[in-house]
This record gives sequence, C-alpha cells and structure tokens, in this order.
Amino acid sequence: MKKVEASAPSNIALVKYWGKRHTKLNLPLTSSFSVSLTNMRSHATITEASGTEDEWDIHGNPSKAQKVLACARAATQDERPLKISIVNDFPSGAGLASSASSMAAFALALNSYLADDAFDLETISHWSRLGSGSSVRSLYPGYVLWDAGTDEEGKDCVAHTAFAASHMPLSLVVCVVDDQPKPIGSTAAMERSRDTSPLYDEFHANNEQYLQEALDAVKNKDFYKLAEISESNCQAMHAVMQASQPPVNYFKTGTKQAIEHVQKMRQEGIPCFFTIDAGPNVKIFCTPEAKDEVHERCKSLSDVKHLLLDQVSDDSPAS
Ligand code: DP6
Repeated sequence: MKKVEASAPSNIALVKYWGKRHTKLNLPLTSSFSVSLTNMRSHATITEASGTEDEWDIHGNPSKAQKVLACARAATQDERPLKISIVNDFPSGAGLASSASSMAAFALALNSYLADDAFDLETISHWSRLGSGSSVRSLYPGYVLWDAGTDEEGKDCVAHTAFAASHMPLSLVVCVVDDQPKPIGSTAAMERSRDTSPLYDEFHANNEQYLQEALDAVKNKDFYKLAEISESNCQAMHAVMQASQPPVNYFKTGTKQAIEHVQKMRQEGIPCFFTIDAGPNVKIFCTPEAKDEVHERCKSLSDVKHLLLDQVSDDSPAS
C-alpha cells in the first residue's frame, strides 16, 4: 500500500500578519517576516482509505486541511479517498503556529501522494495557504519573507528565504504559559480586528517600515535592532487585538511575567527579546551564546508551566 510522509517546522513571525486582503483565499493585507524552527514540527502521513470516505486522524476539526486537500485534488484531478494523519510534536492550537506547520506538512505530503512530487514549492504554498496563511512561511528555511503580492488570485503571494539561519543564528526559549487551545482562533480574531479595531489600519500602514527595518537589522546582524523592531511590531499587533470589540486578549498572568523577565534580562545585558502570537505563550529569542542562561533563568517563572528549546533552522522542509 502506498504511504507518504512529510514534515514541516513551526515558524514565528518577527513582523506579523494580522489581516487579509482576501478572506477565502487567505491573502494577507501586508507582507510578513518570520523564522522557521528546527525542533517544533508537524508530521503528515497519507495512505489509502479503507472505505469510500476520507479518514482523518488530526488534532481538532479537519476544515482547514479539507481546503488544502480540495485544492490539491483540483490540481491533480485525483479523487481517491485518503487516510490522513497529522501530528504535532508540540502543543496544538496554543499560538505556537501548529496550524502553519500542519498545513505545510500536509501540502507537501499531498504533492508526494497525489502527484509524485511534480509540483513546485510555490504551487504547494498556494495549496497550504488555503488552510492557514502563515503556513506558506513554514515551507522555507531560515529567515523568511512572505510577500503579500497584489494579484487578485494570489499568484504573486509567495514566500522565500531572505537570509540563511547561519547568517545570524538565533536560539529560542518558549515559555509555555498555557498549552490549551486558544479562546478564539486567529482567523476569526483577525476578522474582528478588521471590523472593529481603530488601530487596524495604522498597523498595516506601518508594515512597510517595520519590514524594511527588520530586514536591514538581519542583513547587518544587528541583534538589538531586530529585538527593538520585533517587540514593537508584536506589541502593535496585540494593541490592535485589544482595541477590538469585544477585545481579543491572549495574554495571561504568565505572559506578563515572562515579558517583564525578558525586559529585566535585557537590561542586565543578556541579548534576548520576546514575541507573542495568538496565544499566551512567550517566545524568547536570544543569541546561541545566551541560550543556557536564558533557559536557566526562565525556570524560576512561577506562572510558566514548562519551557521548550529551539533554534532557527537552515533545513529545508521540502528536501
Ligand atoms: C498571530 O496563519 O493562523 O501568528 O491565515 O487565518 O489561518 P489564517 O491565520 P494564521 O495567522 C497567524 C497570525 C499570527 C501572526 C503571524 O504568524 O504572522
């Protein structure tokens, strides 16, 4: 029986995506900039279904994955029922980008199963984007720029590796404050922000400057500049969320505790900065040299359940 497996990493945005120019196609309003990780990954396996229906073994509702599948089927004209399993080796739905890595891994597996790897990465990224916008970034290693593009159908809405991880290595300590699924998913929360947040337009108007400064900071290997831009962009995104009606608040007590901890460590000269996505968990980036100290010092945080260690990766998920 034919069986294919594919995996893809989680990615963390340094300049965030929080709004769409096309809801159904998941086309972003503005471009975003992320790093792809090494350890936090999703694994997709596809085999033949035993009956006439697709069989799903995935975390939560398969609706996002079904959109990816429909797109791959339309491209390959292959309607065979499939048995699909997608597992994450880290908490799902807690703002750790599990839908991004799952959809990226699934799209890669579909290309293998239905098309013997005939489609290129750009096409695969169009399939995975239908399930989760930010999954496009998980298909590329290192520092990744996802271009919003202008084409109505999203043909130019593609990502690429802007810098190798080895250009400016970064380590990551994730403070897991809560590993339960978030109260509102990012798709619905983005719509609420679009409809009600007075800060939504300003956030997008500033995107070009954030992007340029973040790209320059990495180009110049300027850790502290990247720290400043990333934290500022993250706080701007959470301000957009919190100004929505009703407010979208992902922060918990442990989130604030970890943020203050990072600020204190940086004041003491430890090169680290935080970013937070659609969940309460705090991702602390630092230089590889500072990783052990950051890790050690985060162990004392009373409202942090556990810590995950990772680093920016140069391994291509698609190889
Ligand atoms: C806060 O990619 O999960 O992590 O396209 O609706 O599936 P959909 O949203 P998703 O949004 C990610 C939002 C974010 C910021 C980011 O990663 O850029």
